[in-house]
Amino acid sequence: MADIALRDVRKTYGKTEVVHGVNLDIAHGELVVILGPSGCGKSTLLRMVAGLEGITAGEIAIGGKVVNRMEPRERGCAMVFQNYALYPHMTVAENIGYAMKIAGMPKAERKEKVGKVAASLGLSEFLDRKPGQLSGGQRQRVAMGRAMIREPKVFLYDEPLSNLDARLRVAMRVEIRKLHQRLGTTTLFVTHDQVEAMTLADRIVVMNKGVVEQVGSPTDVYQRPETTYVAGFIGTPGLNLLPAVADVDAGIVTLRDGQRLAYDRGRWPDIGHGPVTIGFRAEAVSLAPNGLSGRFDFAEELGAAQLIHGTFAGETVVAHLSGSNHFSPGDPLSFRVAPSDVQLFDAETGHRLAGEVRPAAETRKATPILVKA
Ligand SMILES: Nc1ncnc2c1ncn2[C@@H]1O[C@H](COP(=O)(O)OP(=O)(O)OP(=O)(O)O)[C@@H](O)[C@H]1O
Ligand SMILES: [Mg+2]
Repeated sequence: MADIALRDVRKTYGKTEVVHGVNLDIAHGELVVILGPSGCGKSTLLRMVAGLEGITAGEIAIGGKVVNRMEPRERGCAMVFQNYALYPHMTVAENIGYAMKIAGMPKAERKEKVGKVAASLGLSEFLDRKPGQLSGGQRQRVAMGRAMIREPKVFLYDEPLSNLDARLRVAMRVEIRKLHQRLGTTTLFVTHDQVEAMTLADRIVVMNKGVVEQVGSPTDVYQRPETTYVAGFIGTPGLNLLPAVADVDAGIVTLRDGQRLAYDRGRWPDIGHGPVTIGFRAEAVSLAPNGLSGRFDFAEELGAAQLIHGTFAGETVVAHLSGSNHFSPGDPLSFRVAPSDVQLFDAETGHRLAGEVRPAAETRKATPILVKA
């Protein structure tokens, strides 16, 4: 049974529909990340699950019960926001214990519970401080403590780490993952940061303009993006995407400037002739003589490796190369991509081309859990 089920959930503000029929099943104990750019409807979706926002159409169920008409407090969700929303005049202990106080829990019991939660978040020494006397990361942990103490059925996080500096963000990411391993609470986590999504999630829901583009494990969305949108959004950098024309008989694609590249015809046996978009990872590109020719633009230094930006057939291509290579802007470059690393998308719709033959192992683990409306 799915712990959270969304059936054709829609949201309209005035005349504008901002969430266009989302279907999603989240299993008990799963940590699912909703990922997408600003304005795509992530917070709206989360707030609808929490009950802070009404739904225009569809159905939301939590623990098998339809919650459409339930008040937020009846739904068993605890939400953590980006801006923490702590009570400034209360101490850390009072902030964490507030919900228990309202619920009428005796003082001694409350103190013990607050103590335990605070200890698990490394907040024991700050119990008597006010939020104004804490760092951003400490405040964030207080907000998490306040959610944890209620022992919710579901945790909902809305970009809880985006106010933190880069190092703290990485540290808190690990904390959230550990907390999830320890408590096993079903969790929905919203972010626009794909690295955060990749490192945290059991599964990622990639959203674009109020529509779910793909649902899958981090490896799935990285290795097998369903659309060019997902392909470009996931990965640092995103997939290299170039327009081309396919020749199915020869198993090659021709780029705009006439250069040719082989793809794996065994994997895409029947794509027909005509325009396609080809994609390949920066990691799949190697420098080699007599490959595709283009020119060097600039390099991003990563320490142990470089991201080499070049122009090929009028498009930007990024290659992830180890070591340090020295080029000057305008230098000729020649690269290779193995046919098995070339992915194919419909030139018009951006969808991954149909008819792809997937290796047996890959087919077994792929269980479709989402139906797009
Ligand atoms: N109360 C509202 N009235 C009208 N439009 C709204 C309202 N709340 C949100 N929207 C619109 O709905 C769309 C989705 O908003 P939402 O806050 O869910 O985006 P988001 O993905 O969380 O973005 P961000 O990453 O910037 O937080 C946006 O276009 C936004 O302008
Ligand atoms: Mg938001």
